[in-house]
Amino acid sequence: MLIPFWEFAVDSLLVATILVMAGLLLRMRSRIRRHEISLTQAHTAIGAAEEAARAKAAQWKSIIASLPDGLSVVDSDLRLVEWNEHMPEFAGVPPDILRVGLDQEHILRAQAIAGEFGQVDVEQEVRRRLERLRTGISAGTAERRRPGGMTMEYRRNRLAGGGFVTLYTDISERRRAEDQLRQAQKMEAIGQLTGGVAHDFNNLLAVVMGNIELAQAALQASNLLGAQQKMADAQGGAQRAATLTRRLIAFARRQQLDPRPTDANKIVSGMSVLLRHSIGDVSLETVLAADLWQTIIDPHQLESALLNLAINARDAMPGGGKLTIETANAYLDEAYAAANEDVSPGQYVLVAVSDVGAGMSEADAARAFEPFFTTKEVGKGSGLGLSQVFGFIKQSDGHVKIYSELGSGTTVKLYLPRYVADPVIEAETQVAPRRPPEARNGETVLVIEDDADVLAFTMDALESLGYRVVATRDAQAAFAALDTRPAIALLLTDIQLPGLNGPELVEVALQRRPGLAVLYTTAFPTNAIVHRGTLSSQAKTIHKPFALAELAAAVRDAIDNPPR
Ligand SMILES: Nc1ncnc2c1ncn2[C@@H]1O[C@H](COP(=O)(O)OP(=O)(O)OP(=O)(O)O)[C@@H](O)[C@H]1O
Ligand SMILES: [Mg+2]
Repeated sequence: MLIPFWEFAVDSLLVATILVMAGLLLRMRSRIRRHEISLTQAHTAIGAAEEAARAKAAQWKSIIASLPDGLSVVDSDLRLVEWNEHMPEFAGVPPDILRVGLDQEHILRAQAIAGEFGQVDVEQEVRRRLERLRTGISAGTAERRRPGGMTMEYRRNRLAGGGFVTLYTDISERRRAEDQLRQAQKMEAIGQLTGGVAHDFNNLLAVVMGNIELAQAALQASNLLGAQQKMADAQGGAQRAATLTRRLIAFARRQQLDPRPTDANKIVSGMSVLLRHSIGDVSLETVLAADLWQTIIDPHQLESALLNLAINARDAMPGGGKLTIETANAYLDEAYAAANEDVSPGQYVLVAVSDVGAGMSEADAARAFEPFFTTKEVGKGSGLGLSQVFGFIKQSDGHVKIYSELGSGTTVKLYLPRYVADPVIEAETQVAPRRPPEARNGETVLVIEDDADVLAFTMDALESLGYRVVATRDAQAAFAALDTRPAIALLLTDIQLPGLNGPELVEVALQRRPGLAVLYTTAFPTNAIVHRGTLSSQAKTIHKPFALAELAAAVRDAIDNPPR
């Protein structure tokens, strides 16, 4: 039988469609299969990642738990995120109130009630502390005596995403050890003083008594002339004993002073002949400030102090050298007063005595004011010169500071209180302090300073003026910073540095960055340094200790008027 053509065509079409669909189905199945496989793989990977994250979290938890310190973390809304086992004990918070999300306010209130902040109005204290947390000013390190007598140090740091992490460290043991050390040092100083007094007086008594005995013997032998000579020797010994007593009384700040309004420039120039006589081969230069304020001080004692300092300077320059006495009006600011014991901020008349001699080690400089501390050979120094200067300046409400570098020289700065004839008129004529000039657009300053305290102050000061600060402590680090930080606009460097000194460092720095602005810091009078040949006379310098306003003006000037 003949199959009609159209039937055959329909069948073929059907078969073809079925075949195509079957092919498609097969292909889809294999694709689904492939997806199934990659889904399972993804699941496995997610599982592994979750496992790793859980392990990491557990690891962190155990690290935080094993810290000997207390730790707490709050988020940007000041809600508790994390804490460890020691935190409630060290912070004085009942552990059972702590939970994730707890408001810091509750924690502070619990602490205030437990007496952690002393005898305070609880609500007022909570508000005050919350405010400090909110404004972020409570970041930093602080110390607190706890009700049970424990001394706690807490360090609070801001977190990148907002909030704080606080570490509580029990420093009771450290503080106890420091107290013991201080006490031991005090006893040693008293021992040294007593020993010194006993030793010197014993010698002088031996002179006095021995000569009286010899005079008696001479009298018995009817040797009148001999007796007279011995009595004069005895008197000499007694006079030296009286001088010793006077110097000790000066150190004890108990001497009879006769403070009068005094022009320190007049004292210095009036003494120059005497000083030149006393210092032998050493040359003397005086740099007296015009418009120097008056000071109120006992002029005779100031003379005696300057003589003591000049003789010390001479002794430090056995081969000759230069002694510089400078006067200037000076302002010691709050920051300086806070960093130095027993200094009131305010206006002073500065008299600086500098030499280019042997200098002192840090340890010797720290002890130089102690009575009987001397490095001079027996018979050369009694170790009472500087202690006398110290006692006199302190008793006059002034301040004295030694800056010294071994091998470079020493500057002793006397800050004498300013005398104001009529405080009312003075107050009226005083101009309001101008705001110190600040950074224009966050210029970067590279600071090189080997003294950690000065470095910290300089950094704080510059940052508060809006500068960006890169801090280094030596030349190598400074060069590395210059190579990697093109934004550096000013090099602020100490002149006296270990290794390459300031001017040597600047020479290399200028080869790398010609035209870079430079400002030197130094504790020595500029002309003493120029004289020593370490500094060109065009170099810009600022003298330590400097006030914030001085630093602000000097930095601005150095950046705006770079060397040509
Ligand atoms: N300008 C200086 N340069 C280097 N070292 C100094 C300088 N001034 C003081 N010293 C050190 O400080 C020590 C104490 O000085 P101080 O003037 O108190 O006593 P002295 O000079 O040793 O003895 P005295 O002044 O009683 O004769 C000195 O022995 C010396 O080591
Ligand atoms: Mg001396």
